[in-house]
Amino acid sequence: MVTTIGIVTSGGDAPGMNAAIRAVTRIAHAKGLQVIGFERGWDGLLTNTYRKLTPRTVGGIIQLGGTMLHTLRCPAFEEPGGVERAAETLSMNNVEGLVVIGGDGSFRGAVELSKKSDALMVGIPATIDNDVYGTDETIGFDTAVNTAVGAIDKIRDTAISHERIFVVEVMGRKRGFLALEVGICVGAEVILIPEKPVTLEEVNKLMEENAKKGKKAGIIVAAEGFGDSSKMAREMQRQTESEVRLSILGYAQRGGSPTARSRLLASLFAQKAVELFCEAKGNMAVGLLNGKIISTDLKKCSETRKPLDLSLLDTANMLAT
Ligand code: F6P
Repeated sequence: MVTTIGIVTSGGDAPGMNAAIRAVTRIAHAKGLQVIGFERGWDGLLTNTYRKLTPRTVGGIIQLGGTMLHTLRCPAFEEPGGVERAAETLSMNNVEGLVVIGGDGSFRGAVELSKKSDALMVGIPATIDNDVYGTDETIGFDTAVNTAVGAIDKIRDTAISHERIFVVEVMGRKRGFLALEVGICVGAEVILIPEKPVTLEEVNKLMEENAKKGKKAGIIVAAEGFGDSSKMAREMQRQTESEVRLSILGYAQRGGSPTARSRLLASLFAQKAVELFCEAKGNMAVGLLNGKIISTDLKKCSETRKPLDLSLLDTANMLAT
């Protein structure tokens, strides 16, 4: 039975990470476990920088975006000796279970660490990209969707007034989960995602048909992984009669108070993670599948490409007529 749990938040932050830290800490304490939080991602394990977490020290953070433990992209962890140093830190502090809150890159780090450490690793998927295998939804995704939808609703107003086309770039790294869901929710005329390449000519043709139907304003939601949206907006303006503007939503999508859904997911994932430790089960990632909180092999989650339901693009296209 594990007696001390470590928590690390790693990679890009996501709204709801704080809610997960709070929930892991409180549930672990209720079960008689000690909790420490490593600071600045994997760097905290390389430098042995941590703070003790208690039910009181995680008070007042459920509604805060970001992560109170800070996070870092940490190349030093991947350099020779990095993983070994992190394993030493765990053993030095008698950490028998480590909760890794982050995306698939963080999960890969946890898998590497598990090869050098006896501590049990449990991953909690948290990224606005929603691109982690083993869960229908990651912590932070719902918040980012809502942030982007709020911003694009405002952009739609000015698009209509000026009868302009707006290309709105959203995050998502190499995947289109965020763009697809946001696109459906804002009624985008076109959604561009890396999983379904289309040519500029095809997009132009569609927007010209829309203009002929009297639909002169339009929103094109483009995933950052689709390509150079700035070049696309420029070329569209040059090749068509339309006025085209570009709006890159950027890092606003990573911050802000987590939605109720992101907080709930964080709390339920945390509970499952602590339960796994209590059952002495490691090398797992928790997730939400078909409405149920489950756990999946961590290595599998870190290596497998999560499928995207492309039929949703057809739905979006039907809705945009
Ligand atoms: O993974 C979250 C994310 O915001 C991606 O959507 C984006 O591509 C990336 O992180 C940006 O990374 P960084 O914060 O290192 O610039």
